[in-house]
Amino acid sequence: MKVIVPPIKCQGIKTKLSDWIKNVIPDDFKGEWIEPFMGSGVVAFNVQPRKAILCDINPHLINFYNAIKSGAIAPSTVKSFLKSEGKKLKENGEDYYYEVRERFNKNQEPLDFLNRSCFNGMIRFNGKGGFNVPFCKKPERFARSYITEIVNQVSYIQNLIKCYDYEFICQDFEKIITNASKGDIIYCDPPYIGRHVDYYNGWNEKSEMRLNAFLKNCKSMFILSTWHSNDYRKNKYLDTLWSSFDVITKEHFYHVGGYEKNRNPMLEALVTNFTVVYKKNLNRKKAKQISLFNQKIGSVSVSP
Ligand SMILES: C[S@@+](CC[C@H](N)C(=O)[O-])C[C@H]1O[C@@H](n2cnc3c(N)ncnc32)[C@H](O)[C@@H]1O
Repeated sequence: MKVIVPPIKCQGIKTKLSDWIKNVIPDDFKGEWIEPFMGSGVVAFNVQPRKAILCDINPHLINFYNAIKSGAIAPSTVKSFLKSEGKKLKENGEDYYYEVRERFNKNQEPLDFLNRSCFNGMIRFNGKGGFNVPFCKKPERFARSYITEIVNQVSYIQNLIKCYDYEFICQDFEKIITNASKGDIIYCDPPYIGRHVDYYNGWNEKSEMRLNAFLKNCKSMFILSTWHSNDYRKNKYLDTLWSSFDVITKEHFYHVGGYEKNRNPMLEALVTNFTVVYKKNLNRKKAKQISLFNQKIGSVSVSP
């Protein structure tokens, strides 16, 4: 099955791990899918639950998806916006890049967020919450084929949001975990403890302990993404905070700066409070639901 790629890319994005995560979901799951750390939303968009509550502390991500939900951002808006922005970027290069970056940090318009996010594929913020990705020296970034790809991605997400019941909320993780009920699944993908630092806000031992306390006491099932080990060290919290839960692992490669030669192997972990019956393939009923949805919006091509 094709992997759905969202228009926003963020650090730690789970595009290539979404099948693995999807296949640990129990076949009889019928509750709400809850993501306190939605990031790009790629996991939910591939799981395609009927009802989901997707949250993040980063308001730009939430504003962007709420703008798609309300119709303020539509594929046609994105197309004409990126076409005209692409032209200005081609003519004025670096100066224009920084002008828009400043404009976005001042006005926080979701379309500017999309524009900057698509510039070199990743979003990154400084400690004050300012978007700080530098110019990637590609004034011709917004070629026609690239704009089409982004427009198709927006279109796919717009259809998903129309078809299912998805809520996007900007908030800290505590509230949504406390409100989850038996039968729901909370999928948590916080910044990896001891690894990533360039998030909208930081993540440290205190944050990991706070998350652990809330997940320990939650009424629903949970799946937590974290790192297990790399060639040099191991995630010590798996033997302390998370030691009473089940853990499964999978090797994954991260590309530093997008270069193939900088492939860093890492063992990824999924920590769960239920026993995982891992299936190689998605259950038939769920696969049929996703395939019917894809047929319904058939004309949209989604890049792998
Ligand atoms: C690893 S990323 C999630 C990636 C996402 N699963 C994906 O595939 O795109 C972690 C996310 O956690 C968010 N975050 C950090 N601290 C948070 C908090 N206290 N409450 C809610 N979200 C938080 C960050 O803004 C970031 O989007």
